[in-house]
Amino acid sequence: MNLVVVGAQWGDEGKGKLIDILSESVDITVRYQGGNNAGHTVIVGNKEYVFHLIPSAILRPEKICVIGNGVVIDPKALLEEIDSLKKRGLPMKGAQLKISANAHVVMPYHRVMDQLREGKRAQKIGTTGRGIGPCYSDKVGRMGVRIIDLLNPKILKAKLADNLNEKNDIFVKVYGFKNYDFSEILQEYLAYGRRLKPYICDTALFLNEAILAHKKILFEGAQGTFLDIDFGTYPFVTSSNATTGGVCSGSGVPPTKINQVIAALKAYTTRVGEGPFPTEFDKKMNDNIRSKGHEFGATTGRPRRCGWFDAVMARYALIINGATHLAVMKLDVLDDLKMIKIATAYRYKGKIYKDYPHDMEVLANAKPVYEQWPGWMSSTRQVRSFNKLPLEARTYIERLEKLLKVKIKYISVGSKRDEIIIR
Ligand code: GDP
Ligand code: IMO
Ligand code: MG
Repeated sequence: MNLVVVGAQWGDEGKGKLIDILSESVDITVRYQGGNNAGHTVIVGNKEYVFHLIPSAILRPEKICVIGNGVVIDPKALLEEIDSLKKRGLPMKGAQLKISANAHVVMPYHRVMDQLREGKRAQKIGTTGRGIGPCYSDKVGRMGVRIIDLLNPKILKAKLADNLNEKNDIFVKVYGFKNYDFSEILQEYLAYGRRLKPYICDTALFLNEAILAHKKILFEGAQGTFLDIDFGTYPFVTSSNATTGGVCSGSGVPPTKINQVIAALKAYTTRVGEGPFPTEFDKKMNDNIRSKGHEFGATTGRPRRCGWFDAVMARYALIINGATHLAVMKLDVLDDLKMIKIATAYRYKGKIYKDYPHDMEVLANAKPVYEQWPGWMSSTRQVRSFNKLPLEARTYIERLEKLLKVKIKYISVGSKRDEIIIR
């Protein structure tokens, strides 16, 4: 049984917490796209971990973690993450972590280009500044550096020379920025290659052999459906396929080997960065939910924008991802609200939109059509079975299920490992 956890909103749905729980019953957990723009939080006891590149299952020393070919890896950030986990007492042996030889490498000029480009844009995306977009651009432009290249000085030299030949001109002439030094980057990245070597392998082959040996695999999505490069609120998106389609191209595991897709959704909605957000709260309510839900970016610390649950977007996300089950996270954040709204359609220029519109003008200006439901006004954090939830909370969950037409299997009522209801 191989399963995917995918974000069905704009990221930060609580995927890390869900992965931590689900990873107990699988053998291997795989990241298949994105990079260290991701921030996945896991809280065990009184310890908090935030993972950026390493799969959240690494907390279980007997489980194998894979960073697939579809991920873009900043080796400096990855080594810092490995070192900090070792410092916190995790064994992190070579055999526990496997890194795809084909994954692309985030270079120093990608990080700087990300920031310079944002600086020049009138319409800012609000990227994490981690160099993710420029790295994926170079991959598609056939000038990227792959992890395997860090082990081959001849190939790395040739690629770096070609890259700097073009990029130094752009940096100096377009952005008035400094020149990059060839030998400095070469030495730095060859050193990263030497340190990462024990982890590097053909992860696609490894995963397919594991499937033949009846091992169970969990795919850990990063970002969310509306940050997907194809299906998201383009151009306010990230540069990879965060939807389940990305699993196959980003790991080398074929679609015939994927059995379950669990879509993670918050009981409300958040977004970090720029772009349309139809159900966004007004300032007062934004401040209220942000402080209750600790809605600050796990990667950049930026305040997240908050809003009501958007069933128009969620329905679209479940179709695109082929969700077989849902996980509704952070229900407890709504615990003391008198009234809760769900958007079921949009209205723009007299027209009603029941399906998610791809025209950014419509999405940016649409007014949501809301249903209102009574709140439960009591704490759900101690509840561990669906029947023990307050009636209004059960009604809210059942209403979401009816609107979305997919079974809600997990209901999360707190940030800790055991604060979950499994139906
Ligand atoms: P991810 O990127 O999808 O893994 O999500 P993040 O880790 O960026 O953000 C989710 C935040 O919500 C983290 O701080 C989690 O500790 C927290 N969290 C997860 N599930 C729950 C929940 O059910 N209730 C509350 N209150 N917090 C939760
Ligand atoms: P996890 O995996 C929320 C957002 C950024 C920005 C846009 C593009 O924790 O859910 P990028 O740096 O990727 O080019 O930025 O995407 N973004 C995320 N928002 N959660 C994430 O990851 C995100 N990763 C990128 O804020 O709006
Ligand atoms: Mg996150």
